[in-house]
Amino acid sequence: MITHPAYTVEPWCLRESELDLDVLEQSESVFALANGHIGWRGNLDEGEPHGLPGTYLNGVFEFRPLPYAEARYGYPESGQTIINVTNGKVIRLLVDDEPFDLRYGRLHRHERVLDFRAGVLHRTVEWTTPSGRTVRIRSTRLVSLTQRATAAIAYEVEAVDEEVRIVLQSELVANEQLPKREGDPRVSASLGAVLQHEEDFVQDSRLRLVHRTARSGLRMAAAADHLIEGPPGTSTSAESGQDLSRLTVTSLLRPGQRLRVEKTVAYGWSGVRSLPAVRDQVDAALAGAASTGWEGLLAEQRGYLDAFWARADVELEGDTEIQQAVRFALFHVLQAAARAEERAIPAKGLTGPGYNGHCFWDTETYVLPMLTYTAPHAVGPALRWRHTTLPAALERARQLGLAGAAFPWRTIDGDECSAYWPAGTAAFHINADIADAVVRYTAASDDLVFEREAGLELLVHTARLWFSLGHHDPHGVFHVDGVTGPDEYSAIADDNAYTNVMAQQNLRAAADAAERHPDLAASLGVDDEETAAWRDAARRIVLPFNKELGVHEQSAGFTSHQVWDFAGTPADGYPLLLHFPYFDLYRKQVIKQADLVLAMHLRGDAFTKEEKARNFAYYEPLTVRDSSLSAGSQAVIAAEVGQLRLAYDYLGEAAMMDLANLERNTRDGLHIASLAGTWTALVAGFGGMRHHEDTLSFAPRLPEQISRLAFAVHFRQRCVRVDISQQQATYTLLAGTELEIHHHGSLLKVTKDTPCSGPLPAVPDLPEPQQPPGRGPARRRWADHD
Ligand code: BGC
Repeated sequence: MITHPAYTVEPWCLRESELDLDVLEQSESVFALANGHIGWRGNLDEGEPHGLPGTYLNGVFEFRPLPYAEARYGYPESGQTIINVTNGKVIRLLVDDEPFDLRYGRLHRHERVLDFRAGVLHRTVEWTTPSGRTVRIRSTRLVSLTQRATAAIAYEVEAVDEEVRIVLQSELVANEQLPKREGDPRVSASLGAVLQHEEDFVQDSRLRLVHRTARSGLRMAAAADHLIEGPPGTSTSAESGQDLSRLTVTSLLRPGQRLRVEKTVAYGWSGVRSLPAVRDQVDAALAGAASTGWEGLLAEQRGYLDAFWARADVELEGDTEIQQAVRFALFHVLQAAARAEERAIPAKGLTGPGYNGHCFWDTETYVLPMLTYTAPHAVGPALRWRHTTLPAALERARQLGLAGAAFPWRTIDGDECSAYWPAGTAAFHINADIADAVVRYTAASDDLVFEREAGLELLVHTARLWFSLGHHDPHGVFHVDGVTGPDEYSAIADDNAYTNVMAQQNLRAAADAAERHPDLAASLGVDDEETAAWRDAARRIVLPFNKELGVHEQSAGFTSHQVWDFAGTPADGYPLLLHFPYFDLYRKQVIKQADLVLAMHLRGDAFTKEEKARNFAYYEPLTVRDSSLSAGSQAVIAAEVGQLRLAYDYLGEAAMMDLANLERNTRDGLHIASLAGTWTALVAGFGGMRHHEDTLSFAPRLPEQISRLAFAVHFRQRCVRVDISQQQATYTLLAGTELEIHHHGSLLKVTKDTPCSGPLPAVPDLPEPQQPPGRGPARRRWADHD
């Protein structure tokens, strides 16, 4: 299934055993290293060839104009784009005056290994120059999870059979030329040279460049220092210009001799701090890393990841590809979030410039649920970031004539960047998604400090938004009209079911939180009358239902729209958004991504078992999955309604999204929500985990292809391990005090000394629903047996 011919299936790493330049861009995303603050794409050390050079700092962006042919009131005035900042990865190599470039000479060996436990990218190369000199190169790269401003590389070159003169150029490069990409709204805008020089500096083996963005006014500094080990006679020199600082190391290597460079790179940025302050910040980061040393950085990285895997690992027997893919997914989601610390978690993490580096609802609806139960320390800061953007959201709501806060559909710094309002501003559900993440995190973590400092305000202002966006009809029924739900092939619809059930939860949660914190709520102007009004709206909010068909409507009237002509749509007409006008998509029954199906997962308590089965059967033949967010959610409900084989296929799609480049745009960055969706498909799908209010429940059922699934869940200072076989599930309390859980509806008490078990019920043999022609998930082979 992995299309890269040279990736091997291994449980704890991703190994590329030979270089294929045709998939170079894709591999740069897959081999990206990040810590949520710094992102380094997996570009080759020597800089070229490259698909897309990429170095990102979370929150460093430039404004870009959003020109409108017909501007209207309330359209955002400017967009934001993540920028490629100063590249500290580059180590060029000359062997007897010939540049090390894999397109020339002879490549005997090229291997890259992304090690999920060590948190490093290893590379091993053996190469002969066009004139016949052979060298071995080994590099190891890390972006530190413990020292968030720091990245480092150990680079070693060895002469193989003849004496060679080696020149290494270790660089900091700003304003790299980037390849131009156009024609796909999902790629990033290209802005040219955006970094304006402020200072450059070299001394001994130390380099530093300071730049500033012209319009967003952000100052960033990159600094590097080096430790060099080579045979006697090894010498260095350094030089610097506006966009390039360079340390040159020369050495004469006899066969078997090595030159080794340890390069530490530090990054800092600020919108307010002075040049000396930002400069000092990177120098201090270098000093910190120097005192830790390369071995120390490696040890810290492993320690951080040991702790993560002890909490978060998912073990699976019966499918080694999925086993590898879920660890790849967990690793990359962690990298996107670990040290984001009150900055956004973008849809692509820091692995590429896709979607201009914007953060969407992907964070709260897909990424944070996984982190809440596996790495809760990363969730509070992510939601606190949303809280820091509250002033912009309050202002946006005011501009739109609404109460409360209207959070942006896509953004970097909190301002709305979506120029396409039907699938932007109108996607008001993002506000309920943020509230959902607040509710989940608060209930799962008992982080009352967060609730007091940020959670309550987020809930109150989003509840106010719903109350002012909706209205009571003459019969008292509460409606939310003219909004876009998760399915972006329908827009400006009335009473989107997903939006309404999520808003319902938002309104209730705000009232509950206000009652828990009456003084704080009063300071926000909340009184009993307001909470009563929220509760009343929540009670009366409509969930559209077609009685004749016996199914919920995705939005009012949806089931009476004409059905899209699936039979007449050619295979290359997908994704539909690139080949058909939105006006036509909007008036037909065709669904881009899980919408009502997602509602049945997140608000499973609002639907009966029979409704879930009927709704799933109705919406499957209409859902084309033109978004990578969909498969994981469809897997969850497929598993719940007993369609285990189908759930397994959807799991495969979510899991292989980037490893197999299924949407053919992995080069622009990884699909972080889909990666998180792999965990969700396993834990909420086959593990059947649900968390509604204070209740944690499991309804495990495994497809025949998976013989065992085990994972841990963090819940209210406890850690519960769930181990599922084809016959039973066993729950063990690894940490914390006794906990009550539900297993297929029966109450179990999990205590420290006594694991408890429950049987897995038989799964009914049901006919499988069909997807639109050609749009079913790939039938997953039974990897270990077929
Ligand atoms: C999806 C959105 C998603 C965005 C970023 C779009 O294709 O329809 O739901 O937020 O991609 O991942």
